[in-house]
This record gives sequence, C-alpha cells and structure tokens, in this order.
Amino acid sequence: MIDLDNLLTKCEKTVDFAAEQLRNLVEAHPDYFPMYTQNGKWMHGGEAWTNWCEGFLGGQLWLVYQATGDEYFREKAEHYSRLLEHRKTDLNVHDLGFLFLSTWKRWYDLTGEEDKNAVVIEAGQTLAKRFKEKGEYLRSFVSDESLFIDIMMNVPIIFYAAQETDDEELWETAYRHCLTTRRYLVRGDGSTSHEGIFDLETGEFLRQTTHQGWRDDSSWARGLGWSLYGFGTVYGLTGDARFLKTSQDNAWFYMENTPAHGVPPNDWMERGAQNPHESSAAAISASGLIQLSQLVGDPTLGKQYHDYALQIVDTLTEPEFVGNGDEGWEGVLKQGMYHERLGLGVNESVMWGDYFFLEAVCKVLGVE
Ligand code: GLY
Repeated sequence: MIDLDNLLTKCEKTVDFAAEQLRNLVEAHPDYFPMYTQNGKWMHGGEAWTNWCEGFLGGQLWLVYQATGDEYFREKAEHYSRLLEHRKTDLNVHDLGFLFLSTWKRWYDLTGEEDKNAVVIEAGQTLAKRFKEKGEYLRSFVSDESLFIDIMMNVPIIFYAAQETDDEELWETAYRHCLTTRRYLVRGDGSTSHEGIFDLETGEFLRQTTHQGWRDDSSWARGLGWSLYGFGTVYGLTGDARFLKTSQDNAWFYMENTPAHGVPPNDWMERGAQNPHESSAAAISASGLIQLSQLVGDPTLGKQYHDYALQIVDTLTEPEFVGNGDEGWEGVLKQGMYHERLGLGVNESVMWGDYFFLEAVCKVLGVE
C-alpha cells in the first residue's frame, strides 16, 4: 500500500531536484543538448546513434516552469525551444513529435500565439513526408524498409497538424501508420516488436526485428512504453476503440511481466540480464498509464492503471533511482538505458528518462 502523503512529498522534492540539476546544466554548458550521461556526467563525446533528444531539455524546462512558476525556467524554456525551430523541416529523423510536442506545443498551449502553433504544424507536415505508400507506414530514420514502434509517440503531431489545418489526407496518413503498426508490431499477448521490415517493391511485411531489445522475437521494454503511451494518445485523438484496446493490451503485458516495484529490465525476455532496470521505460509507462487511466471508461480499470503508475513513481522517487544522493551525478533519474548492445548510456541518466519522469511526477502532483 502506497503512503500517498509521502509520495507527494517525494514528488515535490523531485521537482526541486530536477530544477537544480537543470539550472546547473544550462549554466555550465549553455546551448548544449545532452542525451545520456557517462558515469553520471552529461558532457562527453559519446556517440549519439541518432538525433532525437533535443526536445527533452526544453520540455523539462517547460515542466519545471509549470510546476514552480519561476520565470528563470520560462526564459530558458523559450530559449531552448527557439534553438530547435530549424528542426521543423528535418527530414532525417522520425522524432519530430518528441522534439516539438514537448516544447513548442507547450509554448503554444500556454500563450495561444499562432506563430508557435505554426511551428508545430509545420513539424507535423514534415514528419508525414516519411510515409511509404506501399507498406502504409512512416519510415524510421534507419531506412525506407524500416518501421519503428517508437514512431507511435511521434505520429500524434501529424494528427494535430491535420486537425489544425483540416487536412483529411494528412489525417489519413497518420491513421494508416497507426493501423499498420498495430497490425505488425503489436503481438497478441500485448508485447511489442521494436522494428518491422517491409518489402519496398510490394509493401509486404517481412519480419520483426530489433536494435535495442534482446532478440527479434523478444520485447524491448521502452518500445512497449512508447506503444502504450502512443496508442493511448491516438485513441484520445481519434476515438478509435482499437487504439485504446492496443494501449490496454500493452499495459496488461507490462503489469503482468514486471516485478512488483514496477521497473522492468531493458527487455523482459532477456535471460541472465546484466542490468536489472531500465528506469526510462518505467517513467514513460507511468506517464502513459496515468493518461490511460483517464481515457478508459471503466473506473475499476482506471484505478488499476493509476495505482500501478503510482507504484512506479513511488519506486523511482526512492534514493536507488533518484540521483540526489550521489555526489556529482548530473542527471535526475538513474539506471536508465539507451542502447545496451552498442554500450551507449547503460545504467546512466538519459534525457528522455528525466523528461518522462518529471512529466509523471507533475501528473501525480496535478500540475500537468
Ligand atoms: N527512440 C529511441 C529510443 O527509444 O531509444
């Protein structure tokens, strides 16, 4: 049984700690966009694999501003959002939702200023250009034949752009991508595959594969988090019950297969895993479960999702996961994982882990 008063106190302390860490980061390394720490330090020359994280710094600054009202963070949030503006036409990544929904969309929601909305819309229109007609999916950054589960967190920006501009074709593009992902990357037991490979000539789906999971047929925990949260969001946007069902199936798989504390390993099926925790998957899923608890009509199920999310946040706000007990640790949430196979960011803080952790904490505190 979770002690709610204690949890709220831990969440308040987490916001304060995140604010302190972010202030230190932007003062020590102005205009630098970190991705993962090495031995707890952000600034290093480690490989990036792809450029998808630049919205999570501005996004955290917006969240801290929302939670504290401190104008310092508002000013920095605007600054770090502006630094991203040119990415609205970036055709090299599938991550424009991560970049712009966490930053410019928050800015627009706060101000109602049309020039901010125009940036979000343009980013959504750019992302849609990745659509492959034959297989009916938005291609990943890797290649034309590749579809990633991660794109479910980005496709909402296309629905948004379509809604704002009354563009039915754009809406249809986003819709078809979601149906393809649901069909080929989400399995009958609610687990997910990281990647799907298609035949470019015929559009035929060929096989499930992975980059960051253990095996092609296993289940990478963060990918499932992206699916749970992403399908919930697109259910909220479309009202299509199939997407709600998919998010619920993901939630069920997560809850059934994760230890009682709520933090999964990098891949649920990996035998003899060296690293017991992938905290960023837990943070993403906590935030996605809180959203799901509000979307689902059934109050009993809603409570189940919400209680489980609280369990995750309760665990992640303990000293084992929060870096404030570790002298010199520059991130917020420890024990995250970027790319275990490539040895990038293993048992470290990762920028999206900090972002979604803060988002979940803000939801628990009722300030998001
Ligand atoms: N979207 C890339 C990742 O989850 O690592």
